[in-house]
Amino acid sequence: MKGAKAVNAGVAPVTYGEGTRPPRGDYARARADYTCEQDYAQYTAADHDTYRRLYARQVQQLPGKACDEFIAAVAQLGAPERIPHFDDISERLMQATGWQVVSVPGLIPEEAFFALLASRKFPVTDWLRRPEEFDYIVEPDVFHDLFGHVPLLFNPVFADYMQAYGAGGLKASRLDACELLARLYWYTVEFGLIATPQGLRAYGAGILSSAGELTYSVTSNEPERVAFDLRRLMRSKYKIDSYQANYFVIDSFDQLFEATAPDFTPIYREVRALPTMEAGLVLPGERRFSPNAV
Ligand code: PHE
Ligand code: CO
Repeated sequence: MKGAKAVNAGVAPVTYGEGTRPPRGDYARARADYTCEQDYAQYTAADHDTYRRLYARQVQQLPGKACDEFIAAVAQLGAPERIPHFDDISERLMQATGWQVVSVPGLIPEEAFFALLASRKFPVTDWLRRPEEFDYIVEPDVFHDLFGHVPLLFNPVFADYMQAYGAGGLKASRLDACELLARLYWYTVEFGLIATPQGLRAYGAGILSSAGELTYSVTSNEPERVAFDLRRLMRSKYKIDSYQANYFVIDSFDQLFEATAPDFTPIYREVRALPTMEAGLVLPGERRFSPNAV
């Protein structure tokens, strides 16, 4: 789904009937930091098959739509025909950028999420959607979290951005600014686009793990696409139950890292004084990016 980690954190997990393994939202098996063991033996042959089909559908449409950094790293997830062991990925990731993948039972509270990111640990939900949720799932599952988020953690600049976001989240909690910061996560980590000489490419995990939004985000005439601007972005509401009405476009991960490096304390104050914008609005004079030709 559109990973709503920073946003929907703390929402009561959906519970399903018998037959979904590992059990969804079984927080009793989590430690104090909300991580748990990846319950690998619990995956059924059907789960592995669902993962294989999700992976195959998604990987074939990456060229021309996903950014090069993502395409280069996706193979690091390992064999595409079964759900990976998180520990295997962590070994490679640790060597590349010092990050680890840790298992969680589902969405976790905001502060716990920020604390993990700040210590270069990315929480991945260990259960997989059911076949009837193949096209759309309302909360993050192992496919969204792994396929969508983990490849870019192999990129050194993006990896540093994610850690900085976690530290910034802990600070935002103290400043009561989590809603503003969540918009940054949403419009970059989940739904970010990057401009390249070849055209627009997706780097956001919510796009990259979605069968339909990957094409929509870079080729449709419907949504608005404007240049990344921190204050403008923090004022912008977003959609959680449909494709995005607007996207923010970065030039490079360096630009993203540098634009978010300043202390947000005065920026939160500035942004709070400005009117909030509904999703999909464009301000007079704003430069719009055209979709890629198809
Ligand atoms: N610079 C931000 C702050 O001071 C921290 C941050 C960095 C937040 C990167 C998000 C992304 O709060
Ligand atoms: Co996500």
